[in-house]
Amino acid sequence: MCGIVGYLGTAKAVPVLVSELKCLEYRGYDSAGVAVIEEGRLRVLKAAGKLANLESLLRTENAYATVGIGHTRWATHGAPTDKNAHPHTDSEGQIAVVHNGIIENYRDLKDELISKGCKFASDTDTEVVAHLVSTYYHEDNDMLKAVMTAVRRLKGIYALAIMNVEEPDTIYAVNHHYSLTVGLGDNESFLASDSLAYRQYTNQMVRLDQSEIAVITKNGVRLYGFDGAEASRPPTASDVNAFVADKGQFKHFLHKEISEQPVVLRQTLTKYMPDVNKPVLLRKADTASSGSAPSAGISLTNMQLRGIERIQVVACGTAYHASLIGKYIIEELTSIPVEVEIASECRGRKLLVNERTLTIAVSQSGETADTLAALKDAKSRGSFTLGITNRADSHLAHLTSNLIITQCGIEVSVAATKTYVAQLVSFYLLAMFLAEERDAVDPGRLLELKKGLMLIPTLQEKILGQEEEIRQAANKYKSVQDVVFMGRGFNYPTALEGALKLKELSYIHASGYAAGELKHGPIAVLDEKVPVITILVPGKVYEKTLSNAQEAKARNAQMICVSVEGDQNVHHTFDTILTIPPVDEFLSPLLAVVPLQLFSYFIAEALGKDVDQPRNLAKSVTVE
Ligand code: M6R
Repeated sequence: MCGIVGYLGTAKAVPVLVSELKCLEYRGYDSAGVAVIEEGRLRVLKAAGKLANLESLLRTENAYATVGIGHTRWATHGAPTDKNAHPHTDSEGQIAVVHNGIIENYRDLKDELISKGCKFASDTDTEVVAHLVSTYYHEDNDMLKAVMTAVRRLKGIYALAIMNVEEPDTIYAVNHHYSLTVGLGDNESFLASDSLAYRQYTNQMVRLDQSEIAVITKNGVRLYGFDGAEASRPPTASDVNAFVADKGQFKHFLHKEISEQPVVLRQTLTKYMPDVNKPVLLRKADTASSGSAPSAGISLTNMQLRGIERIQVVACGTAYHASLIGKYIIEELTSIPVEVEIASECRGRKLLVNERTLTIAVSQSGETADTLAALKDAKSRGSFTLGITNRADSHLAHLTSNLIITQCGIEVSVAATKTYVAQLVSFYLLAMFLAEERDAVDPGRLLELKKGLMLIPTLQEKILGQEEEIRQAANKYKSVQDVVFMGRGFNYPTALEGALKLKELSYIHASGYAAGELKHGPIAVLDEKVPVITILVPGKVYEKTLSNAQEAKARNAQMICVSVEGDQNVHHTFDTILTIPPVDEFLSPLLAVVPLQLFSYFIAEALGKDVDQPRNLAKSVTVE
């Protein structure tokens, strides 16, 4: 949430800052702004709304400064307006600050600073930092000391970039349990929440530690702990590839990313399961542990894996839904009990994990604050840890030595699609790996499932070939107000994910339920205006799910289903039928979600919604 950038060098700062901000707009798009130092003066340019608004503003400016900081905002404190856009300054306009995170004690600090005569111009928590640093700076004109004294007074987790007009050759950056990286080029330096932002300029980077201050000049960086102790870390080569966002033939990234799912799955399967007759390749290569960049693979020994008595999964949003399916998959194949928690619900609780627990954190970005906090808590209680992420360079990847890296490439659209199916396939592979390590499953059944898994990309392609039918179905339902999704067993979480996709893309209210739960209350909302989407796949819970659908039909609901081709039962019950190819119930979530993603996409598109950047959202949620 929120993206911080900075630049010092010999080039004009503004175009570099804007190019960095473009790479970080996924972190929030409520407003954007830059501050540069020019002719001994601080110039702050900012605009509410997307980065394009700031770009329009900058077109009429001719800033030639070679130093600056910038920000893209996801609003927490204060509405998404011009005045609340970052950067914020002190009363004299001498010190500028951009900020990511929350200053939890900002009210007390604000009262104190107002009593000392500071003039506040915004409703944000951020502004206190500018006034606080300024106050300390004016005590003895020592900027590093002022920053250090100020951050010791802040509560919460945050990252900051700070400039002082009296030190036009320096940017001060602060990281407190966030992510901030410094890029080092030839006679120029960069700052960004995500190294992707400056990857086009340099691949040499220094990642700030958990509570660290960086003093950045165009010639390098010096690092200090909050206690003043200087630290030294050599730069490492970033393993993130420079990324150019390209929609190709598609109108929206979301549509492109849905269409990429078969390729993503093939890549993941080829990497981790090149031969179905051999064990799943999740073990870390012997050579992989050297160097500081995280490497994919599991380093737990067979003894340790056999000793695991419980698995705890922590995740948010779509990753939480993938994890719920992960629970069913792992329990089915390994008989290890699995608990899945919404990561934010782990805060302030006694997490029941120990040295015989494996805690798995699932996060496509690897930066979700709630998920990271839960993982750190589990780690501190002695649990083994494992991360499933799409970003090998993320905070999450640095927190654990057991990693599954999904092979998706960058997901641009805020609504997760390809990373969801990649997380699912990671759970299938992990369950198979654990089952093999613990001799927990009949080898014949395992081989059958592995072969079935290998067919999934081709079956997904078949569903993508039915886009026109799904578009027509979406058109029929685009004007509804409420939608109910339901499924049982492996596809109960598919119902939750279907509802989340519809909500975030179209803003239509939708809820997902375990089909058997509908009769315990939610059925009261049904009438002829409410479509009910049932996920119905042959298997252990097929008949019961069909009965639950009948119960909804008896209340006059509009009936839609996702069912397998050739199922003759569905014609009596459902008005609209979206089909998937026949598939083992165990693997069916990998297929059933695809028509639901497309259904939501086509509704959002028909309603003219901002498909790739839905209102109020951000791709990476870095506040708790
Ligand atoms: O980066 P993460 O996977 O940790 O993100 C978790 C959620 O914020 C994310 O899945 C969110 O729910 C998406 N908007 C869903 O499409």
